[in-house]
Amino acid sequence: MKSQTWEKRHWLRVLGPVLIVSGMLVGCDSDTGSAQQEGQALQGPAGQGDQLEVVEGQATDPVMAMRSENSLQATIQEQDGRSVVTNPEAVTVIVNKQRSLPDGYEPKDLVEPNVKFSFDGANEKRFMRKEAAEALEKLFARAESEDIELRAVSGYRSYARQKVIFANNVRTKGEKEASRVSSVPGNSEHQTGLSIDVSSPSVDNTLEQSFGETTEGKWLAEHAPEYGFVIRYPEGAEDKTGYIYEPWHIRYVGTDVAPDLANSKLTVEEYFDNAFIKL
Ligand code: DAL
Ligand code: ZN
Repeated sequence: MKSQTWEKRHWLRVLGPVLIVSGMLVGCDSDTGSAQQEGQALQGPAGQGDQLEVVEGQATDPVMAMRSENSLQATIQEQDGRSVVTNPEAVTVIVNKQRSLPDGYEPKDLVEPNVKFSFDGANEKRFMRKEAAEALEKLFARAESEDIELRAVSGYRSYARQKVIFANNVRTKGEKEASRVSSVPGNSEHQTGLSIDVSSPSVDNTLEQSFGETTEGKWLAEHAPEYGFVIRYPEGAEDKTGYIYEPWHIRYVGTDVAPDLANSKLTVEEYFDNAFIKL
C-alpha cells in the first residue's frame, strides 16, 4: 500500500465521508462487494492525489481499519488478574507493562536474518519472526549500500531468558531502575520476535543512548519506517511507553503502519489508543 503523510490521512478522514455523500467517489468491484477509487485525486492541504477505498458506502482507510482492529481496547482480556493480549501473532500486537503475552507464548515462525551480528555463535537472540527478519535484511542491505554500518545485537528473547535479564538488572540497579530499562518476563516485546536491538561499531556495538546521536543511529531512525520498523521507545516518552529512550530498539509493525506511525509522532501506545484513533 502506498504510504501517506499524517496530514493527508487526517484530511482523508475528515473529507472522505463528505465526498461520498456528494457522489465524488465512484466505481464498484461486484465480486468483492467493495469499490476502489482508482487514481482519482483528492486535493487536501498537501495538494497531492490519493486513493480512497469505499466499502458499503463508507470511506475506509486500511491503516485506520488496522489501527481500530488492533486498538489497545480491542485486543485485551483479563486472565487470572492479568491483562493479556488477544492478538499475540499480529505484527501490530502491543505488549508493555500493562499488557502481557499469554502464558507460554512462543512465536512459531522464528528464523535467523542474514545480517551482521555484534557477536559470534548460536544464540536465540539471533532470531526474529520471518516477516520481521526479511524486513531487517532489507534494512541492513540498504544501510550497507549507503556505507552505514549496523550490527544486530539482540532479537528474540524467550520468557526464560527475559527472566534472567530482568533479575540481573534488579540485582545491579534495584527494582525501580531495572523496570525503567527492562521488562518483567511475559511483558517484553522481545518475546514477540518482532523487536531487535541494533547498534554500530562506532559505539562499540553497545546499547547506549549516545547511539541515537551517531550517524548510524540517525540513519536508523530516519529509514527504519520504510522497512516496517519504528523506534519503539522514543526520547521523552517514558510516561507513555514505560521505558527510557532506547534509540537501539526497533520494532516491526509492518510497512503500512510504520511510516504513518513515524509521521504521526505518536508513541505506539497512543497510536493504537481509541482516544487517538477517533480524533
Ligand atoms: N528493554 C526493553 C524494554 C525490554 O526489556 O523489553
Ligand atoms: Zn530491546
